[in-house]
Amino acid sequence: MAETNPIPKEEGMDHSLNLLREGYTFILNRRRGFNSNVFETRLLGKKAICMGGAEAAEVFYDESKFIRSGAAPQRLIETLFGQGGVQTLDDAAHRNRKQMFMSVMKPDDMQRLRDITKKQWDMALTKWEQMEKVVLYEEAQEITTRIACEWAGVLIAEQDVKTLSKDLTATFESPAAIGPSHWQGKHARKELEKWLIVLVNEIREGKLQVPDYTVFYKFSWHTDLNGDLLDPETVAVEIINILRPIVAISVYIAFVGLAVHHFPEEAAKVQSSDDETAQRFIQEVRRYYPFFPALVAQVREDFVWNGYEFPKDTMTLLDIYGTNHDPTLWDNPDVFNPDRFIDWHGSPFSFIPQGGGDYEMGHRCAGEWVTIEVMKISLDYLANRMKFDVPEQDLSYSVISMPSIPNSKLILTNVKRKMQ
Ligand code: HEM
Repeated sequence: MAETNPIPKEEGMDHSLNLLREGYTFILNRRRGFNSNVFETRLLGKKAICMGGAEAAEVFYDESKFIRSGAAPQRLIETLFGQGGVQTLDDAAHRNRKQMFMSVMKPDDMQRLRDITKKQWDMALTKWEQMEKVVLYEEAQEITTRIACEWAGVLIAEQDVKTLSKDLTATFESPAAIGPSHWQGKHARKELEKWLIVLVNEIREGKLQVPDYTVFYKFSWHTDLNGDLLDPETVAVEIINILRPIVAISVYIAFVGLAVHHFPEEAAKVQSSDDETAQRFIQEVRRYYPFFPALVAQVREDFVWNGYEFPKDTMTLLDIYGTNHDPTLWDNPDVFNPDRFIDWHGSPFSFIPQGGGDYEMGHRCAGEWVTIEVMKISLDYLANRMKFDVPEQDLSYSVISMPSIPNSKLILTNVKRKMQ
């Protein structure tokens, strides 16, 4: 039997309120306080182990040690994930479902995504030239809603874009909220699921035709481990798992805009969306700004790691924000420096804005390439293809409230297309 030491422990009945008060920095503050990458606390009335850093991430993604089923709090399932979604599956069932997601992430799919994204940015820019002021975060929600629907093959009437955009936004803005905003998120998810279930049934009955390369088609006809079609409710949940996070890229687009404004010398280096300078800038936006705070899993069987005991069924959190700001992994982590990604040789567990490890085998974000492509094109427009002013406004953003968004939502005026 390996020798064990007690995990540093935070005393007290429950620290859920501190989690709300400290937001993204909750785990990092305690990792610093205990001078340990692992500590124990109590959250949502239960014992919880929190950990951060690349080594901890590698253990967290070891399937023999952690499972996802039963780990996510109900409020996340009700808003963000949906019932029976890929995030809550393990082992063979997870791999079957994940393969469905990765089957729409092929090079041709990415090319189609790039074409759609450029078209939508061009249309938006034409509209913005006529507007007195543009609220970038809100406009980006509409751009990404249109991209999401066209790319996924979900037909939507022009007059419904705004409502759909608001509903999808509610599902990712509401998980950490209390009261009306949370209920709004739950309600929005229910309405979206109802709408999509009807469409899935129509595809299966041959009443609705969509191209066979689209998300909508592939998910509607995907079969599980027993060779059965997924039930329409699950297909709806998984289509939302494509639409919702594409619209959530609007948060990153707002941060790209903020970075272009705050770090003009870095933005000036960006040449085009195909260039490595764009890639580095985007990677740094994803590392530097807060988005996803932490991941949650449950210990599969008792195990010992680094002398610490992890008892079966213990809720365990992995610090995403803190790992991306870990001074042992990143020089001056609080400085925005895209050049840190020149010849960067970090592991898939040290840079984890969208999770770590492997796409097919593990739970790493299925949409990371989608996110990067949409962000690179958005950056190209904001840095190279348009001129604008940023009037006096509150450009600060919180490291407490989740998800973090610039307070003013980034107001742009005098938007004009740059002649190339
Ligand atoms: C907006 C930026 C995004 C962020 C910050 C983000 C972040 C994440 C994170 C942290 C995870 C959890 C990883 C884990 O549990 O180990 C995840 C999972 C996932 N993401 Fe994303 N994501 C984004 C965009 C996208 C996009 C655009 C898509 C789809 C087009 C997508 C689809 C998914 C799916 C399906 C999963 C579940 C994967 C699984 O459980 O195997 N995400 N994402």
